[in-house]
Amino acid sequence: MALNSITVRVPAKVNLQLSVGPRESNGYHNLVSVFQAVSIFDEVTISKSHAGSGVTIAVTGDQTHGVPEDGSNLAVKAAQLIGDKFDLDVDVHIEIKKSIPVAGGMAGGSADAAATLIAMDALFRLEASREELLDLASQLGSDVPFMIAGGTAVGTGRGDQLTAALSRGTYHWVFALSTVGLSTPAVYAECDRMRAELEVAEPRVSDALMQALLTGNPTAVGEALTNDLQNPACSLRPALSLVLEVGRDYGALGAIVSGSGPTVAFLVADEEAGLDLAVALTASGVVGSVARATGPVHGARVI
Ligand code: C5P
Repeated sequence: MALNSITVRVPAKVNLQLSVGPRESNGYHNLVSVFQAVSIFDEVTISKSHAGSGVTIAVTGDQTHGVPEDGSNLAVKAAQLIGDKFDLDVDVHIEIKKSIPVAGGMAGGSADAAATLIAMDALFRLEASREELLDLASQLGSDVPFMIAGGTAVGTGRGDQLTAALSRGTYHWVFALSTVGLSTPAVYAECDRMRAELEVAEPRVSDALMQALLTGNPTAVGEALTNDLQNPACSLRPALSLVLEVGRDYGALGAIVSGSGPTVAFLVADEEAGLDLAVALTASGVVGSVARATGPVHGARVI
């Protein structure tokens, strides 16, 4: 019997390293981005609808503010892109149940696009190869391939050329969420502005981070976290510096802005330390809401 609907669960990401090279002539920056997929999930359900209805979308859940419910949603673009590639008439309804913070530096939009590619492949039995899916993903955005891959990986180029990273153990995270997002292009532009007078080197993967992941040592991973977009994000949103400081004061092993922000990620030793930090951050009054998660977890998968 042909299936009429498929649901895919897809995680959020945090960057353990985000090193940004000079701005290229195409407007993008060469990156070294070490990604870890973490256990905050969106669920994307794709259902076949009748011929001629095109792609429709609805967004539900507790994190929906600011998510477009039209053709500008990256999930709609993903459905159309894979439809074009495989010569399909794409008449589908996309339902996104969101938990990943919107415009938070955790790749929520990219995650939904990745989930859509995986769901469309399964629903229409396209049997696309992994390479084909990753290629479509990179056309949609720099972070989309990683949301298919999951785990821990190093992204180079625009961040879309992935190599799996060797990582031992499970990492415990506390995320301080903001109610208002930051625009990724705006944060990159602020980064360029702040470095206008500086000689910017090509990015390199951090040996200290790779070694710490290999040995599964959260203290060393915490010390090795780096993000070149942290200062630009704090420049646009000065309150983030205070959030970072509060987390460090309460004993986080590492504190970092996630991607282009404004989510702040704290690495902690274990689940109990995560609970304690979550309570302390909430009580401090400088953080709107907190989420706890572990990583690494799988990329987009049919459930
Ligand atoms: O690839 P994506 O559409 O997700 O990128 C969003 C924005 O982030 C780009 O428009 C660009 O401003 C910035 N970006 C960049 N260099 C990268 C990745 C993203 O400047 N490698």
